[in-house]
Amino acid sequence: MTRGGSADPLTQAVRASFENAESKRLRLVLDSLVRHLHGFITDVGISEDEWLCGIEFLTEAGHITDEQRQEFVLLSDVLGASMLVIGLNHRAEAGTTESTVFGPFFVEGAPRFENGDDIANGAPGETCVVKGRVLSTGGEPISGSRIDVWQADDAGRYDVQYDDLGDARARGHLFSSSEGLFWFRTVRPTPYAIPADGPVGRLLRAAGRSPMRPAHIHFRIAADGYETLTTHVFAAGDPYLDTDAVFGVKESLVAPFVRSAGGQSALEYEFVLARKPALAISGSAP
Ligand code: BEZ
Ligand code: FE
Repeated sequence: MTRGGSADPLTQAVRASFENAESKRLRLVLDSLVRHLHGFITDVGISEDEWLCGIEFLTEAGHITDEQRQEFVLLSDVLGASMLVIGLNHRAEAGTTESTVFGPFFVEGAPRFENGDDIANGAPGETCVVKGRVLSTGGEPISGSRIDVWQADDAGRYDVQYDDLGDARARGHLFSSSEGLFWFRTVRPTPYAIPADGPVGRLLRAAGRSPMRPAHIHFRIAADGYETLTTHVFAAGDPYLDTDAVFGVKESLVAPFVRSAGGQSALEYEFVLARKPALAISGSAP
């Protein structure tokens, strides 16, 4: 008998075992998970050795995961699952800036800067001046929005990847002016490899895939009444734009980091936020 598929008695029995799950949503999720998992196992005709190898892979991912390192998020990223979830949950309203992966290198409580400050704080790299503008879809400037910024230095490393750094480097937050503007100095970001010394790195090597991400700066922009935007701006012309290890590149997020004769780079970018939907007022109808 061919096993698997939604008609298989085993698949049916497992699906039925979740029929009394505590919510309709949990039932739906578990039912779909069982159908797809059984379908996958059957499709591939998986051997016992291969199944064990998969279990060992996940076990290793668990062992390498700690406060600083989240191998499961990395796995979700390289499988394109993170971008799929972002796409489903942030359907870009026309004219708004697109979202992309959050990544593992954000740090809560990064220092505050004023517009014009140098956020590099000694990070190695060529000087880069960033000017941004935060707008609504109607083109009105959004003042007082909080902009969190983080990026790698010219060695392709985030400050948190150094063992011996006490202070934040090339990360911080600032606020948009009354014209919706913000600006700061930093270093020009460079392409870098995602952490590849664990099971996810092994998976990429086995698949002949590159661990590289194109050069980018991360932005998270929050303003009252607007959806928080988590995104990057990628450097136009970067050799890894078409092969980003985590599938995070969107054409609208690629912009020129213009290098002047003196070797300094400049980026200008407009960020357009989506308004939060108005709260439904329940029970007010006569
Ligand atoms: C990042 O851009 O910081 C990143 C995103 C996903 C995986 C690894 C790094
Ligand atoms: Fe990054």
